[in-house]
Amino acid sequence: MTDSLTALVVGASGGIGLAITQELLQEPGVQRIYATYRNSDHAAALLAMDDERLQTLKVNITSADDLQSLAASIRADQGHPDFVINCAGLLHLSDP
Ligand SMILES: NC(=O)c1ccc[n+]([C@@H]2O[C@H](COP(=O)([O-])OP(=O)(O)OC[C@H]3O[C@@H](n4cnc5c(N)ncnc54)[C@H](OP(=O)(O)O)[C@@H]3O)[C@@H](O)[C@H]2O)c1
Repeated sequence: MTDSLTALVVGASGGIGLAITQELLQEPGVQRIYATYRNSDHAAALLAMDDERLQTLKVNITSADDLQSLAASIRADQGHPDFVINCAGLLHLSDP
């Protein structure tokens, strides 16, 4: 892996996004990870991660305001993500 990579992982509070974030933190070539969560009640494992390369950000991807805040936070951090991994989604709806 190239040195000094920056990643944005959307939907990092659980499942695939959390696993990818954990894997990226094992990579010394990754210098910065922006990892988003929607609900802090579901994000205990992500928020407990202690790594100075990790910045967690609260984002609901259906909110334009949240997306603008996400972009502003990354700009303020002078971050330039090399790749974006979107894991936010819904596999199944609950039964009616
Ligand atoms: N796991 C599989 O085998 C599998 C197979 C095929 C496809 N997929 C797809 O892959 C994606 C991730 O799967 P997963 O198993 O990792 O699911 P998951 O454990 O349910 O995680 C989904 C993540 O998306 C977040 N999220 C959902 N809606 C959001 C929104 N509006 N704004 C911001 N974040 C939102 C959730 O946050 P909250 O905790 O706040 O809800 C959670 O962090 C899903 O789209 C799923 O359909 C998964």
